[in-house]
Amino acid sequence: MLKEKPVVDLIVGLQWGDEGKGAVADRLGANPKYAIVIRPAGGNNAGHTVIIDGKRFALHHIPAGILHGKTAILGSGMCINPLALMEEMNDLEKAGIPTANLYLSDRASLLMPWHIEEDRLQEKARGEAKIGTTCKGIGPCYRDHSDRTGLRLNDFAQDHWPAILVRKLTEVTDRLKKLYPTPAFSQDDFCANFPFDSLEIARKKLSGKIIDLPEFIRKRRHEGDGILIEGAQGAMLDIRHGTYPYVTSSHPTAIGCLDGMGIGPGDVTDVIGVLKAYVTRVGEGPFPTRMDPGTETLVRNLGQEQGTTTGRDRNCGWLDFVQLRYAAKLNSVTGLIVTKFDFFHELPTLKVCHSYRRNGEEITHLPADMEDCEANFTDVEIWREPVKGSAKIRDLPDACRNYLWNIHHAVEVPLVGLSLGPERNEAIEVPKFPTNW
Ligand code: IMP
Ligand code: MG
Repeated sequence: MLKEKPVVDLIVGLQWGDEGKGAVADRLGANPKYAIVIRPAGGNNAGHTVIIDGKRFALHHIPAGILHGKTAILGSGMCINPLALMEEMNDLEKAGIPTANLYLSDRASLLMPWHIEEDRLQEKARGEAKIGTTCKGIGPCYRDHSDRTGLRLNDFAQDHWPAILVRKLTEVTDRLKKLYPTPAFSQDDFCANFPFDSLEIARKKLSGKIIDLPEFIRKRRHEGDGILIEGAQGAMLDIRHGTYPYVTSSHPTAIGCLDGMGIGPGDVTDVIGVLKAYVTRVGEGPFPTRMDPGTETLVRNLGQEQGTTTGRDRNCGWLDFVQLRYAAKLNSVTGLIVTKFDFFHELPTLKVCHSYRRNGEEITHLPADMEDCEANFTDVEIWREPVKGSAKIRDLPDACRNYLWNIHHAVEVPLVGLSLGPERNEAIEVPKFPTNW
């Protein structure tokens, strides 16, 4: 007889990343129905912050579910920087979180120091047209993979790895030397400073953790293990569907989650879309709902909007329904979780964007080129009572409930959860179709 399929839930970001997915993943990750947590794509350009009893964990490669002792996997769609990963693992170990249950897909791309160097060189060469990358080497690493010249974790695990490394180092630095003549790039300096020793230490520690992911997943699902996939970045940073070229080089959407795990859409149970009650963006690119400078500074301070990975100030804007509807459809989102509206009662005004203006025309969809889009805003009634500590949706002020209802209504996806702060218990679960708001 066919057994019931074990659960596979996806967490995806619906904006430009930094929606609060880390805290959401930590809370959902506590559920015993998930035995495995997977980071599907991206690399240490991501920063997922989790706060437990005032203690702050900044995760970059590793899914938040490791904090609950789950089997944690770095998926096939990721680019993994072994040196940065070692630091992240050491930080966890120091904080008393074991990493024995952490595994790495042999299909994942191996991110090497030359990718970081090339990311830096490319950004510098772009000048005014720079993308504002995190300079972690993500774009060059994925490019090499698509170009079919990249290395994978599978190569890192081979006995003849030292030979692979030396060949690749020569090949890559020969290329960089031609593209970026000295003084921009010095092949001699780069090779002289190459971290052979730390890489070898990392390889010894990580080799035993590199698994054949599709086979591992097949076996564990056969045993009935449920899986939570913790997406990184957000739909608007998707290389295909985001605000190209101001995007990352992976697919942060649900499709990328499946690709990074190696399953098809028929095995997915729920797709949880996480959105912040306003919008932030780091790096360059169009941002139609950006706030006026005074409000932006206020929101940046109240929301502590500095990047987890690069420390850059995040730009802040009002909630964008055009973008949310688009992102919800791209991801086939089945439930929404809204984060970070707990300080809104301190704001002078509150607005949402319901459509864009482009060349004098109103549009309600998100076009391929957003450069000329301006936001049409609606003023929204604000509330003055703090919402922190509320236990149920009924406890929230009427105006706040209206705000949330408008999100649900505009996106046409039920609200399933609210986040009222960074701590584990600062969350409200919402029944999928509450009868009374
Ligand atoms: P890259 O991923 O480092 O190549 O950066 C490309 C763009 O994506 C830049 O605008 C980055 O700021 C942005 N980005 C990449 N990862 C994240 C993230 O985790 N949160 C927010 N923005 C990100
Ligand atoms: Mg982040």
